Amino acid sequence: MTIPETGPNAPATADTASRADEPTLTIRRPDVSDGGAMWRVARDSGELDLNSSYAYLLLADHFGDTCRIALMGDDVVGFVSGYRLPADPTRYFLWQVAVDERARGHRLAGRLIDAVIDAHPEVTSLTTTVTEDNQSSRRVFQRWAEQRGGTLREVTGFEAHHFPDGHEAEPLLVIDGFR
Ligand SMILES: CC(C)(COP(=O)(O)OP(=O)(O)OC[C@H]1O[C@@H](n2cnc3c(N)ncnc32)[C@H](O)[C@@H]1OP(=O)(O)O)[C@@H](O)C(=O)NCCC(=O)NCCS
Repeated sequence: MTIPETGPNAPATADTASRADEPTLTIRRPDVSDGGAMWRVARDSGELDLNSSYAYLLLADHFGDTCRIALMGDDVVGFVSGYRLPADPTRYFLWQVAVDERARGHRLAGRLIDAVIDAHPEVTSLTTTVTEDNQSSRRVFQRWAEQRGGTLREVTGFEAHHFPDGHEAEPLLVIDGFR
């Protein structure tokens, strides 16, 4: 698989010519027609809380500017969803990131995060929530912070008693200083 170049000097919509035997992998912002595929990737991820299909259509349609999808050929194989906090648009809240099993192992989640952050120079802080036991996700954010020269701290987020349905606590990971 050919992974697109992303980073401060790369376009948000990155496309890389693939070698003949490899599918081309692209990262671009989603539109409403991609919401269903985002729902499917979340469903198949094995880890994420699956929201309604309607919610992914809303994300793709109304928040596409702060979401990205990764495509292998024509297939959506990953996405990141999030938004800038309405009260402080310098803070990006990353809601979910997922990569299909077949596309894992290439740090694609980090590339998706690069793509959305690099498209928004006004964003100086990234917040997400991650459960205690989600080691792959924790590693993704640690590595992303390291690669971008940022600092990562963990603070209390959504506590177990906030949830009405026995959901486990979701501590916040806050990454600053990556600009
Ligand atoms: C988290 C996820 C998006 C990462 O996908 P990816 O970009 O392909 O990640 P990679 O396989 O390249 O691994 C990224 C890092 O995590 C590490 N990692 C992967 N699986 C791991 C595991 N089970 N335990 C510990 N570390 C793990 C890798 O070694 C790698 O570390 P490195 O950068 O130091 O080499 C993917 O595993 C996924 O979709 N998981 C389910 C959904 C989810 O949990 N999302 C996050 C919560 S919103």
